[in-house]
Amino acid sequence: MSNAVCELFGIRYPLVMGGITPNPELGSVVSNAGGLGCIEGIMQADGLRDAIREFRSKSDKPFSINFPLAQGNPEMNAEKVKVCIEEKVPVVITSAGNPKMLTAPLKAGGITVGHVVASTYHARKAVDAGVDCLIAEPTESGGYRGEHEISMMVLIPSVRRTLPDIPLVACGTVADRAGIVAVMALGADGVQLGTRLMVTKEAAGSYGDHVAKLVLAADDTSTMSAEGRIRPRISKPDFAEQVLGVSNKRTQMGQVSALISEVVSVEDVFRELFEGGREHATEVTAKFDEIAGSAESS
Ligand SMILES: Cc1cc2nc3c(=O)[nH]c(=O)nc-3n(C[C@H](O)[C@H](O)[C@H](O)COP(=O)(O)O)c2cc1C
Repeated sequence: MSNAVCELFGIRYPLVMGGITPNPELGSVVSNAGGLGCIEGIMQADGLRDAIREFRSKSDKPFSINFPLAQGNPEMNAEKVKVCIEEKVPVVITSAGNPKMLTAPLKAGGITVGHVVASTYHARKAVDAGVDCLIAEPTESGGYRGEHEISMMVLIPSVRRTLPDIPLVACGTVADRAGIVAVMALGADGVQLGTRLMVTKEAAGSYGDHVAKLVLAADDTSTMSAEGRIRPRISKPDFAEQVLGVSNKRTQMGQVSALISEVVSVEDVFRELFEGGREHATEVTAKFDEIAGSAESS
């Protein structure tokens, strides 16, 4: 393997599942397909231990636990770090908070640590805190995008130029072959998916029916930024009213919802990205060959 993200996590494809559900089922499917499945670690320490053991009853492949640092308190976090170390969790991905909080104890326990950042400033801070990998989350994504709302087109090249050696995962905004080629072209080594994986056959048991309905009906105007410091991207109330007949049901979801029109299997997602991506990259190269050809003849 030569891809930095595959090597770091011990996975076949540089596809990382975001923290999108505490239910270990979907993560086990993603890991078995060759990516890095994830358990959103928002439960108490005992529940986390149960979820890790359930995951391992379905998959012996690498996976991550996601800790959104804005949730929980120091005692609870310390207990959960202890559980991760005792259970020999291979990877923890922290988000929405200061990477100094958990990186050192996790790494001392032998765990590989990634951190989600929404700006180059925060990327530098995370590297200073000792993380092994960055997951760069732009404003388009369905996650915690911070206050600066930086686009994928700027965030990935900016982080890459500033920190050329760190394994870098582009977070979100990808659901198809063109998306993965684009983020690789910008300088990422892999991709983290949220919204696309949330609307798969294998995710059906993890969410209410309204989630798939909203994502499948969305266009590029259907989401907005939630209030507050971490600002997840969410479905708009008037859009929910139009689709569901009520405005108070909502979901976190990325702008990429506009590109998702079918519930497919996790395996189909891998095929679209990695077989389709290769094909798409060849088509892009051909466009440049065409330009070079016409430049020569003019
Ligand atoms: C329903 C939902 C719940 C999420 N919860 C978390 C979370 O607990 N922790 C976190 O770091 N990110 C969370 N995210 C963000 C995802 O992990 C991921 O980074 C993001 O969805 C990627 O963008 P995309 O939706 O455009 O693919 C959530 C996203 C969704 C859609």
